[in-house]
Formats: sequence, structure tokens, C-alpha cells
Amino acid sequence: MNHKTASLITVVLLTALSASANAFRVTPYVQRPATNAMTIMWLMQEDGQGTVAWQEIGGTGRGSATTTPRLATEFSYLPSQTNYPNHFLPFTIPYQHRHRITGLKPDTRYRYTVTCGGRTYSNQFRTAPAVARPFRFICFSDSETQPESTGYKVTWEDPQDNNSSRKYFIDQTTGYASNTAVIVRRSPELLLFAGDLAEMGSKQVDWDEFWRHNAGPINDLAGSIPFLASPGNHEYHDYFTEAGEMGMRKYLSYFEFEPNGAPVPEDQQERFHRLDYGKATFLFLDLNNGLDSDPAKDTNLYLHEATCRAPLFHETSEQYKWLEAQLADAQRRGNFIFIISHQCPYSVGYHGRFNNENGEALSGTATRMLTPLLLRYGVTAWLAGHDELYEHSLLHGEEIRPDGSTNAASLHVYDVGMAGDGLRGQVRLPTRTRTRSSAPTSTPRKSGRTACSSMAASTTATSRSTLRLTPPATGRRASRRSMSSSQPTRRVSHTASTAAPMTTRSS
Ligand SMILES: [Fe+2]
Ligand SMILES: [Fe+2]
Repeated sequence: MNHKTASLITVVLLTALSASANAFRVTPYVQRPATNAMTIMWLMQEDGQGTVAWQEIGGTGRGSATTTPRLATEFSYLPSQTNYPNHFLPFTIPYQHRHRITGLKPDTRYRYTVTCGGRTYSNQFRTAPAVARPFRFICFSDSETQPESTGYKVTWEDPQDNNSSRKYFIDQTTGYASNTAVIVRRSPELLLFAGDLAEMGSKQVDWDEFWRHNAGPINDLAGSIPFLASPGNHEYHDYFTEAGEMGMRKYLSYFEFEPNGAPVPEDQQERFHRLDYGKATFLFLDLNNGLDSDPAKDTNLYLHEATCRAPLFHETSEQYKWLEAQLADAQRRGNFIFIISHQCPYSVGYHGRFNNENGEALSGTATRMLTPLLLRYGVTAWLAGHDELYEHSLLHGEEIRPDGSTNAASLHVYDVGMAGDGLRGQVRLPTRTRTRSSAPTSTPRKSGRTACSSMAASTTATSRSTLRLTPPATGRRASRRSMSSSQPTRRVSHTASTAAPMTTRSS
């Protein structure tokens, strides 16, 4: 080997090592969809400018921009959290790139290419429609990703047998990857998360695992499908003040939502937010902390008003007032209205119990105080998770139109906590004892068990009269029952299913 050849090999090797060192930690993904704009974000291993170029597919629109990253210290690792065999990234602080492309055409496809650190990534996105047309979205929750779940099959609880030691037949990594593969095949325009994305929000390796599934080597569906989310209790986990907010800082940095504009502190501007997409209005709520003064009005007995940054949601809270204003506006526009929250108001699972009932401290039942408001404004569906099963409740009431006339209303409530974490099914309580309730409607009781293998509700419609909600494609109904209500204009019918589960964790 002569000197020249050796030098060439050295240069090639150094270039390869350099490119490898500055790899994408999270490949480019699209955020905050609008009729005329889209945000592109990604994470790199090392510092250095990037470029993003876009080109209208089938048209002449195009542009490019240079991005300067910031050192994203909120994505750092605690010293105690740097020993994970199934974790595939160095424990270093990444660099975050972000660019909001503006001046785009509505309902138009664009191809984009990101070049950064010697790497190139291309994909395409579609801007939001300005007018009514059918579209599909998928909503699910409770992926609760963590690297140590790879290859680990844990016990699958049997509600009929407390002593059962049966195991899940696949692990969480396989299960979640299977779900994202199904999502891609269904080609949704939006993917909505109803919370509990990573197992522990404050733990960086759990978020790394989340993005490995969504903008990484397992799948990059977030590169073309905008993700939107409501935070779950796991985003505030663990619940000590600093650790909880550490989790929320990661969550709020990974995502970019439309600021709500409510008179709330800066760090609450994106904890609840709105998206208008064609003829649909999606309202994302943060219902992670209720009133400490009464367990029946709280959703997390570990989070406290004095120290937690989660916005409250009772009637005089800013979030509630914001919600009512958005509902009124969306109703005036004749839009479909969808609520996305983590806590599910009606459930046969663990969190359908009331706080302090059989040790429950994370009950979703306090959120039922929103039901009358949602019925009054004709909300189509409330999509939630928290209990890791599939459920559908139907509540009937009365919508009051802007002109004062009334209309029979039906509110569909879904628990879609089936993304990837263990599915525990309904709880087995010998006797349902209701010692206290602020619930405006009756309580669904536990029902029999069944199986179900899909995870989403989707809609294709152009007017409210032609809405079609698509329940999971397969599955057997455990039960369907109608219940009398404490308020005579409402009744609840309820369908509950437990799905083919992956692994189990806390919820
Ligand atoms: Fe949860
Ligand atoms: Fe959960």
C-alpha cells in the first residue's frame, strides 16, 4: 500500500466515523399541521447546521431553509439511567433542529428533504384541508415505551382468576411495532395520542424508545403523519414535582402544538390546544390534575395543585373556560368536535373506580364533570385512554344550538389505551360500592371478557349528518348494556373489550 492509498483510506474512514457520530437520533418528523404551514423537527447527535428543502408534488411551489440547532438539555440522562441493554443511542445530549415552513397551499402534498451532518432524509407531507372533505385519523394511547420491555413477556392479568400466571405471548416492542405497521397500512392523515406515550416521562431512555418506533429505525411514520397528543399521567411521571416537570419539558419539546392563547403561563400554552382540520375540530385537554380538596374531583392524588404545573379543569379554571369558548366556536362553524384527553371518564378498568376505592389514586371518574358541557355543544366523540383496554360508551343528551333550539345529542366515549403497553382488562371487584360520586351520569359496571385486536377510531365524513365512526376491525363484544342515569335525559350503553396484549406495566 503506498502513501497515497493509505491517506485516502484514512480520509474515507474518518469521514465514515464522522458521519456515523453525527447520525440522526430522531429522524425528521412533521408537526403542527395547518392549511398553509408545517413544522419539520429532528434530533442530531452533534452540533452543526442543517438544511430543509421542500417541493410541491405536481406543482411549482418550492423553498429551502437553513437550520441552526440548539443543545436540547431537557433530553439529557440522569446518571442513574444510563445502563440499559436494549438502548441503542449514546448517553449524550442531542441537538434539536426545527423549521416551520409557511406560505404553503392548503390540502397539498409536498416532498421534503433534510440534509444534516452528512445525512439525508426525504419524505412527504400533506397540508390541512381548508374545506370539508373525508379524511381518516387514528387515535390511540398508552404505548408507555421503555427499552427493557424488549423480549420481556410479563404476566397477563386474568380478571377471572387472580392466581393466574399466564404470560403475554409477545413483548411490548413487538406489539407496538405491529400497531404502527397497521397504522401505516391504513394511511391516516393524523395520528392522535391520548397520553402515556413513554413509560416514565422523566426518563430519557423511555422517550428514545418511543421515537425509535415513530421516527427511527423501527418505523418513521411521524415523518409523514402529523402527531398530536394530550399528556397522560406518565408524562408527569414520576410524580415528584421536579421529575414530573422534567417529563413535561421533554414532552413539550418533542412536540409543537398551536398555543392555546388562554390567559395561562407560558409553559401551559401547549398543554391543552386545538386543531382544526377540514370540517373537524380536535380539542386536546390536560386532565392530569384535579382539585386536591376532594378526591372525587381529582384525577391524580399524587400531583398537587401547589406544586404541579398541570392546568386544572374544574368549572372556574382557565382550561374549562377555554374549552367552552372553543366548543361554542366549533359548534357555530358546524364542525365535528372531538375531545382528546388521557383520563377516561367511564371505564370498567382500574381507573374507572373512584379514588380511594380499593386503593385507586388515579381515577378518571372526576372528568365526568365535563360530560354535560360536551353534550350541550354536540361533541361527537371523546377519545381517551388510561385504562389499557378498548371500551366504547354512548351517552345521550341534548345539544343546545347557537339559536337556542335543541337537538338530540349522542356522545361517543372511547378508551383506546391499546398502543403497546400491557392490557389489563376490567377489574374484578366482588361488589361495586359507590360511596360518593360527582358523576352526572351512571357508572358502567364491569363486564365479561373478550378479545379485540384493533386500536383506533377513525372517521370519514364531510358533514355531521354523514359521520361514520369505525370501531376496531375485529373483536367480540364483551357486553352491551344500557343503564339508567341520574339525569333522565342521558343513558349509557357500554361495550368493553380487552385486546390481545403485549406487556403490562402501570397505567
Ligand atoms: Fe395513564
Ligand atoms: Fe397508561
